Amino acid sequence: MIRAFAGTFGRLPFAAKIAGRFLGDPMLLLGGKPLVGWQTVFTLPFRRMALVSDNATAEAVMLDRAGKFPKSTVLHALLKPLIGEGVFGQPGGDTVKETRRVLARALAAIPPAHIAEVTRTLTQEYMDGWLARKGAPAPVGVDLSRLTVDVVSVCTMGRRFTAEESQRFTDLFSIYHQRAKATLLLLAHADEATRARIIHELGLEEIGAEMRALMRERFLSAPLGRDGDEAIFSRALADAGYAAPGHDERALDEIAVMLLAGHETTASTLSWLCHVLAGDSALQDAAAQAVAAAPGTQVADDKSARFAGATGEDVLSALTQEALRLYPPIGFFLRENKEEVALENRTLPKDNFIVVAPRVLHRHRAYWKKPDTFWPERWLETPELPARTAFIPFGMGARVCPGAQFANIEMAEITRLLLTRLRFGLTAGAEPLPLGNLTSRPEPDIVLTVTPRAAPASSAQRS
Ligand code: HEM
Repeated sequence: MIRAFAGTFGRLPFAAKIAGRFLGDPMLLLGGKPLVGWQTVFTLPFRRMALVSDNATAEAVMLDRAGKFPKSTVLHALLKPLIGEGVFGQPGGDTVKETRRVLARALAAIPPAHIAEVTRTLTQEYMDGWLARKGAPAPVGVDLSRLTVDVVSVCTMGRRFTAEESQRFTDLFSIYHQRAKATLLLLAHADEATRARIIHELGLEEIGAEMRALMRERFLSAPLGRDGDEAIFSRALADAGYAAPGHDERALDEIAVMLLAGHETTASTLSWLCHVLAGDSALQDAAAQAVAAAPGTQVADDKSARFAGATGEDVLSALTQEALRLYPPIGFFLRENKEEVALENRTLPKDNFIVVAPRVLHRHRAYWKKPDTFWPERWLETPELPARTAFIPFGMGARVCPGAQFANIEMAEITRLLLTRLRFGLTAGAEPLPLGNLTSRPEPDIVLTVTPRAAPASSAQRS
């Protein structure tokens, strides 16, 4: 099917745009085949693409010890209007290592208790807003995006957008995201001019420019590094030389990386989790009961109780892990091979695409029992992973997420508060699907009814 596009496609961005309407989510093209196989090679109009799931090849690509599997330039082209030369879109090399060090050190310097406290305070605000609707549908997905932008910006830069700005910022990103179809760039010719025309026709430049203006106004209006103690990341950027005259745009690039990588992923995971909980009230109640107990208390070891023997912390972790497994926010790691790669039955010549896909690995039939079922108990019963690459929501190796610890603290805290205080219910409307462009955020956005949860069950039910 893909090969059939080669003739009609050529270098025409307009044709690419039309095709992109139908080719948004690459997973839909794959028809489930990779969920049982280990290596699949696709012939695209101008290049080949190997999707690799076997542990040895996937690990070699992700660890990338010799710098032979840089991030694809497709990602750079797609994100440039928004993050400029920010690290997330860069293929690799020494500059990436240096910038990653700045980001990782700044994130490691934020005390976990501070992340938890900021998360708690901000989450209460959004929950108040939902409850004020008295059971009328609440924009839970959109608000989780705003909440997670607020958390990451307060924790790293000591300030946040106003309510209007954060609404606009997340609306714009939602549009950016819908339009940023990597599939188009994979199918089109890789020359600069063709790519630039595709990006232009998708209208990404206008959206990126408006988002950058919002970030510039809010986070660069005072000179970098002059904020208070809480602006750990702003100071780290200043210390690394981004405060020098003329460096503002580069500083903005990395601020954009921090805000975007640091919010969309957590928001997508939590949106899916809320949707799943809303659709399964027994699970929601059992989880609420487990997390309402004092820290470290185990759910009574009674066979009829879901999560028997687990603590509230275990349950929170199992819920978020399972959401990350079924709906990994970054579903595909798109790399290029700078050297020929030996696959099982053939070779992939150099300068093609090579993909490791959490969206495939996390549901692979050889790795997981009940692969398509949301079953948090799997994390309580069998913590042993079948292979190192079987579960990699935060990536691994050279480009592993530096915000994983931050994200886990934040997601556990938000989930705990939501479960303790609220009850979610589904609303009428289309069943969401993972968008599959830049991330797997649900499309359409999650809208739920939100009502107060009754007081927690009596302590007699606990051991
Ligand atoms: C559920 C939440 C999150 C998930 C699943 C996630 C996942 C990922 C993954 C998979 C990558 C690497 C992509 C690749 O190898 O191509 C990445 C990169 C990154 N993440 Fe996260 N992330 C999350 C939350 C966060 C948070 C909260 C922050 C910051 C506060 C953050 C900051 C970053 C940064 C700065 C990068 C870029 C690193 C680079 O370019 O080398 N992430 N994330």
